Amino acid sequence: MASINVSYFFIVLFLLAFSANAELSSHFYSKSCPRLKWIVRAGMAKAVNRDKRMGASMLRMFFHDCFVNGCEASVLLDDTPTMRGEKNAFPNRNSLRGFEVIDDIKTEVEAACKETVSCADILALAARDGADLLGGPFWDVRLGRRDSRTASESEANNNLPAPSSNLSTLISMFAVKGFNANEMTAMSGAHTIGMGQCQFFRTRIYNDTNINSAFAAQRRANCPLNGGDSNLAPLDSTDIKFDNKYFIDLINQCGLFHSDQELSNGGSQDALVRTYSMNSITFRKDFENAMIKMGNLSPASGTITEIRKNCRVVN
Ligand code: HEM
Ligand SMILES: *[C@@H]1O[C@H](CO)[C@@H](O)[C@H](O)[C@H]1NC(C)=O
Ligand SMILES: *[C@@H]1O[C@H](CO)[C@@H](O)[C@H](O)[C@H]1NC(C)=O
Repeated sequence: MASINVSYFFIVLFLLAFSANAELSSHFYSKSCPRLKWIVRAGMAKAVNRDKRMGASMLRMFFHDCFVNGCEASVLLDDTPTMRGEKNAFPNRNSLRGFEVIDDIKTEVEAACKETVSCADILALAARDGADLLGGPFWDVRLGRRDSRTASESEANNNLPAPSSNLSTLISMFAVKGFNANEMTAMSGAHTIGMGQCQFFRTRIYNDTNINSAFAAQRRANCPLNGGDSNLAPLDSTDIKFDNKYFIDLINQCGLFHSDQELSNGGSQDALVRTYSMNSITFRKDFENAMIKMGNLSPASGTITEIRKNCRVVN
């Protein structure tokens, strides 16, 4: 019995040392780069002022970074002749936006604090600011992440949910990353901002039956059966405002993606969708907690890390 307890103790120690980003802290760069938060904020304010959707795009980029081997900026690496990275994986290709915004911010950060701040931390801050600039919650971003030297197209394909997913697939894909079904629903509330392409909601607006008919007709007008794959539609009825309208829309069967409507289709998440639709403070709090938790996802133990000089290439 004692030996079981002792080995258990060491396993727990090992997990603490290598799996969680236990060292992340709000003050990580307070001496080495005191202006960091303001530089990122100014860069995002400029970008969102030019294009409001960029706030949403940056939030999504953070999700797609963190769900693929942790928040280590793998998503920012360009492909090389010897590495198929994440930018061309199905969920990202011709879809993720904001790489130039990160490049611009990184240039300014390097000018202020050379080779000090990771691209992963810049992305974590930029995503929070993007959400906040559209009216979202301002969560406390813990810092101290490091950047990977590899990215993986196949891991991006396997770890990011598709808009055709059903509820059980969504729940299990988030469970793999340590999130329960309620956290998954709160996180899906990110779809209160941003836009989606016709190719990802065509099947829903032509074939799904749990859809508001006026809404389906409206969306079909700009998403034909053939062609127009990249035509855009707002993810909810207030797509540049971070609010709880997404959940109200779901109750009215106006979810844009099949995966969105799965959260309110007679299953286990209906009650929480209803709660969020009536109480935006609860949604914001749960979303904020989930974003902090998502930001703690760290790379597999043994991953070699660095502070990248250029977010697109390893040093
Ligand atoms: C629950 C499973 C999810 C699925 C199946 C999903 C799928 C998608 C798809 C297909 C798009 C549209 C991409 C395009 O048309 O180019 C999209 C957009 C977006 N997603 Fe998700 N997503 C999910 C969860 C999340 C989470 C957890 C976040 C962030 C916390 C997020 C944030 C966003 C944002 C902000 C946009 C709009 C991006 C823009 O306008 O550039 N999504 N999502
Ligand atoms: C959900 O989708 C998965 C994968 O496509 C499928 O295997 C499963 O049977 C579906 N579950 C339900 C409840 O429809
Ligand atoms: C609708 O479903 C049918 C039958 O499964 C399929 O052949 C068709 O391609 C679907 N239409 C769209 C727009 O997805």
